[in-house]
Amino acid sequence: MNPSQPSRPTILVARPVFPDTVARLRQHFEVDVHDSETPLQGDALARRLQGKSGVFVAGVEPIDAALLAACPELKAVCSMAVGYNNIDVAACTARGVLVTNAPGVLTETTADFGFALMMATARRIGEAERFLRRGEWTHWSYDLMAGQDIHGATLGVLGMGRIGQAVARRGALGFGMKVVYHNRSHLPEAEEAALGARWLPLPELMAQADHLVIVVPYGPASHHLVGREQLAWMKPTATLTNIARGGVVDDAALAEALRAGQLAAAGLDVFEGEPQVHPALLTLPNVVLTPHIASASLATRRAMADLAADNLIAALTGQPPLTALNPEVLARG
Ligand code: GLV
Repeated sequence: MNPSQPSRPTILVARPVFPDTVARLRQHFEVDVHDSETPLQGDALARRLQGKSGVFVAGVEPIDAALLAACPELKAVCSMAVGYNNIDVAACTARGVLVTNAPGVLTETTADFGFALMMATARRIGEAERFLRRGEWTHWSYDLMAGQDIHGATLGVLGMGRIGQAVARRGALGFGMKVVYHNRSHLPEAEEAALGARWLPLPELMAQADHLVIVVPYGPASHHLVGREQLAWMKPTATLTNIARGGVVDDAALAEALRAGQLAAAGLDVFEGEPQVHPALLTLPNVVLTPHIASASLATRRAMADLAADNLIAALTGQPPLTALNPEVLARG
C-alpha cells in the first residue's frame, strides 16, 4: 500500500464466495478470505478476526458474546443468509456492532424450492426415481408410486413471513389449494383475502393441513415447535416439508412418526446438526432429503452475496446499510 494513502479497513470473508464479490470488496478493503468450506468458529474465528473491522458470513458462523468480547475492533457483521440464528444480535447491539442479513432477494427462489420439495414429497419423486434406477420397474401397476394430490388440497403454512406468503401464493393461485396458516401475527385482512388464507391455532393447522410447509425462523421460541405431540395431530395422508431451519422440527420424533405411519412423507432441506442427518431419516423411503439448497439458484446466490457485500461496504464507509437488523447501532454514531 502507498504509505501516503489513508489505511483501509480490513475485513474477513469467512467463507469462499463468488470471486467477483471478493474483487468488489477488495476495491474498498484489505480482504482476508477463509479459503475453506470448513466453517470458522470459536477461537479460530476470533483469531482470524483480530484487527478486522468487518466480517462477511454465510449463515453458519457463530457470532456470540464471547466472540465479540475477543474481537473489540469488529464493527459490522454482514450475512448473505436471511436466517440469522447464528448471530446474537442483542450482543452485537450491546457492543455497537452492526448486523445485516439478506432478506427479500431469496424469497421467490426459496418459495419455488419449497413448493418443488413439497411436490416431490407428495408425489414420491425421489422414491420413484430410486426404484427406476435400481431396475425394479418391470410392469404397470394401479398403485405404483401412488402419492397425494397437491391441487385442491389444503396447504398449511407454518410461519407466514415473506417466504411463507410466497409459498401460499403458489398454492392458492397456481394450484387451487386452500391455504391455512399459523404465525405469531395475523396477515392484514386484505392479504388474507387475496390468498384466501385463514389463521389457525397450531393444533388445528397440524390437523387440517394435507401438506404442511414450515418456514418459521429458528430461535428459542421455535425450537422443536414441531415435535412428537404436534406430529401426532397430523393426518396419516399428510406431508411435512421443512425449508426453515433444523431444530424447528424434532428430527428423531419425525422419523418415529413417519415409521409409525402418523404422516405419509416428509421433505427436508434442513436438519438438526446439519450437515449431519439423523440416521433414522436416511433409512426411510418416504423422505426426500436435500442439502440446505432452497435459495440455491445461481442468480439468487449472487444477489445474496451482492447484498451482503453492499451492506459491508456501506457499513464501513459511513453509508446506511440496506438491510440492517439493528439500525439503532447507527443512530448512536
Ligand atoms: C438460508 O437458509 C438463509 O437463511 O438464507
